[in-house]
This record gives sequence, structure tokens and C-alpha cells, in this order.
Amino acid sequence: MLKPDLKQAKTRTKNPVLIYNDVYKLLDEDKKIGLNKKYYLKTYGCQMNVRDSETIKAILEDMNFLETDNYLEADLLILNTCAVRENVHNKVFGMIGRFKHLKETRKDIIVGLMGCMAQEEVVVDKILNKYKWLNFVLGTHNLHQLPEVIRSQQKLNINAPSIEGDIYENLPVKRTNPFTAFVNIIYGCDKFCTYCIVPFTRGKERSRQKEDILKEINKLIKAGYQEVTLLGQNVNAYGKDLNDQYYLNNLLEDIAKTKIPRIRFLTSHPWDFTDEMIEVIKNNSNIMPYFHLPVQSGSSRILKLMGRRYTKEEYLTLFNKIKKAIPNSSITTDIIVGFPNETEEDFQETIDLVKECQFDGAYTFLYSPREGTPAAKLKDNVLLEVKEKRLHRLNLIVNEHAKKSNDKMLGKIVPVLIENYSDKNKGQFIGYTDTYKSVNVIGDEKQLGKIVDVEITDVKSWSLTGKTV
Ligand code: 5AD
Ligand code: SF4
Repeated sequence: MLKPDLKQAKTRTKNPVLIYNDVYKLLDEDKKIGLNKKYYLKTYGCQMNVRDSETIKAILEDMNFLETDNYLEADLLILNTCAVRENVHNKVFGMIGRFKHLKETRKDIIVGLMGCMAQEEVVVDKILNKYKWLNFVLGTHNLHQLPEVIRSQQKLNINAPSIEGDIYENLPVKRTNPFTAFVNIIYGCDKFCTYCIVPFTRGKERSRQKEDILKEINKLIKAGYQEVTLLGQNVNAYGKDLNDQYYLNNLLEDIAKTKIPRIRFLTSHPWDFTDEMIEVIKNNSNIMPYFHLPVQSGSSRILKLMGRRYTKEEYLTLFNKIKKAIPNSSITTDIIVGFPNETEEDFQETIDLVKECQFDGAYTFLYSPREGTPAAKLKDNVLLEVKEKRLHRLNLIVNEHAKKSNDKMLGKIVPVLIENYSDKNKGQFIGYTDTYKSVNVIGDEKQLGKIVDVEITDVKSWSLTGKTV
């Protein structure tokens, strides 16, 4: 049994990154395991998890399992989890409780926990105490071992080592969408913001080799993809661990040369954002003018406690530099409300910064202490009631700005990549502008997968409606 160990994750080694190319192997018997069986997979959290789930699905389908979205009829049930805030933990344990009922009548079902929660000691201890009936816990560093843990399904198999450093190339993937794809460029995070569990659950920064990234993108282009989103917890740190002076700006430039119509990247850390990156984005029309640039707080005092490595003024300087270089860009952010010791004055500074930046959108969160992080040692001393009131005040302003930004689009004709059918409105489609605004499009099925001109006819805070012209 390999359990995670937060302390071990904290003592980082500077080992060179090992790249394993062909670690994923299926035995003939694995291909029989899923025959006439169904799997249910629920994904929580960020795009990294969504991308991991695309690999989990491909592995399961290689094993001949069929997907179902009804867990009651599944033979294999997997939760791909997120550890960033406590609320997902509650949801996940709620789901596990339901699966337990199912297992009482159907002993043969296999239940597994994957993703970031699998990398948390507290979670694994809880499972060892209360949920020993689970079949497996598989961590974020060893997705390729999924066939192995399913094969050895009789008893609880915990396989979530905290030792990372490896990049597994050539794992299979079942892409969610045929036109836009997630491409990992860097795994892990070395920033250790004091509130954040990610450096522990995802390990140290490990950049993929540029050749592997470009090979993947060229394959996607051949398959007709119109857009790639480069993924990393901190994409701006790309290449810093590789010692060959090749960074995000160089990678973006090389990807731009492939002529893929749209390139995006997520998430940007202000501290690692260089002028060279802004230049490359400005000079290449296929790099989209959209930035997700989390600020977290508008108070330099709180930013310091958070270990964010920039002051409010430095954030504003970067923000204005981007806006000046790329005036049509849209910028969204993340904000945490109620970090330990946040006073009304600190919070007011966040409101002032939000008013100054007029973000196109913001994801706002109540601070949630994560065991094992430095901030969890601070007293969580902002009352929940105060946190909630602040969040509400902040959201009113955020929504007002998002609406204002969308209002400017009314009546305009803008290029939109039509990605999918709309879930909500029959006969409509869902697409995205270059600035990553979602548009409900009244159009034509033939336009799926194409970038078409859309006239914006209605706007809300978080979405637009339009018709193709
Ligand atoms: N509490 C609340 N929000 C958090 N985030 C990360 N850790 C925490 C936490 N402990 C938020 C940050 C980050 C986003 C992905 O989640 O805003 O940018
Ligand atoms: Fe967490 Fe900070 Fe890394 Fe983002 S940059 S993943 S908030 S530690």
C-alpha cells in the first residue's frame, strides 16, 4: 500500500524529470475485465482534472467498459476528485455514502477514489478508518496504474505516492470535444501559496518536452481541431525546470507557427508573467487575447500572508501592461474572501482593486483551510457570517462589471468557434469568442467546429446570445 505523505511532498528534490514513454500496458486479461460492464466517472474541480478524466475514460474503454451517466447501473464507479476547498470533500463523501448502499446489494461493484483528494493523508486515513470497503485509491501521479488496481479488486488498494518527478507520455486519451482540446504543458506547482493544497497533491513543477507538446498539437491539427488550451497550474512557469532557456513565450511562438486557429493557456501566475510573453501574444493573431490572472486579494498585507510574491501595485502594473499592449483582451481573475486576519480595510482594498480592473469575470471563493498548508496553522478568524457577507458584496460588483463588459458586445459581429449543441436550448449551439465569452448561438449544424461570424443580440452577466450572419 502506497500512502501519500504531505511531509515528503514538502521536501522537494531537484531530480531531473524522468520521462516514461511506454509505461501504460494492458494485459490481455485487462481487456476482458470490462466486457459487458459499465463505468460511471464523476469529475470535480479544474481543467487538469477534466483532462485526467479524458485519460481515465480512454483507459477504461481500452478495457472494454462502456460509459454510463447513471451510477445505479454501473459496475465500476470512480470519483475523480478536487482538494482545493472543503466543500468538494463533503460532496465526495456524500457520493461514497450512496455507493456504499449500492455495494450492500451488489458486492461485485468496484468503487475507486482518484484525483487530488487521493493525495491527501487525511482523506486516506479517513478511508482506512471508515471506508475500508472501497476497492482502490489511486493518486494523481500514477494514472497509468489504473488497469492494475482494477485487476486487483478484492481488497482496498491504496496507491497514491507523494513522490513525483515523472511525466508519463503516450497515455491514451478520449477527448471530450472534437474541435477544442486540452494539452498539458506543465504539471504541478512550486509556488506554495500558503492556502493552497495543490503543490502537495500535484507535486513539483514538471514541464513536458516541447517536442512532445508540438507532436500532440500537430496530431490534433491533422484530426481537425481548431483550438488548443495549454494547461498548467501555473503555465507561466513552463520550462523553468528544463534548463534549456525555452519558456512559455518560446512555446507559444512555436505553437502559433503551426497555424492552429486558436491557442489559449490557463492559469497564469502574475509573478512568472514576462514582457516576452505579452509580446508574443500581442504579435500572433492565433493566440487568443484572454488571460485568467488570479489576484486572490487586493490587499498587499494579505497577499504577503498568502505568499503570492506580488503586491497590489505590482499586480496592477502587470494588468495595465497587458491591457495597454492588447487593448481588446479580456481578463478574468480568482479572489479568496476571508483569509485569516482579513480586516474590513483589507477587503475594501479588494473591492477597490476590482473596481479599478473592471474584470470581465471573477471566480470568488470563501477561504477554506486545507490541512497541511501553512495557512491552516493560522487561526481561521474571520467569522463565516462576515465571510459570506463580503462574498456577497464582492459578487454584486463582479457581476456588474461582467455585465458591463458583455454590454459592450451588444450588436457587434464577432468570430465564434461553434463547439457543441446547447444543453439548454434545442436547436441552438454553444460557442466561444476569442475573449472566451460563451455565446448561445442560433445557427446551423453545418457550422459545428467552425469559426463563424456571430451577431450578438442579447447579453447577460455570464453569457451572450447571438445569431450567425
Ligand atoms: N480556500 C479557498 N479558495 C482557494 N483556492 C485555492 N485554495 C483555496 C482555499 N484554501 C482558490 C484560488 C485559486 C482557485 C483555483 O481556487 O482562488 O486560484
Ligand atoms: Fe495553488 Fe498558488 Fe500554485 Fe495556484 S500558484 S496552484 S494558488 S500554489
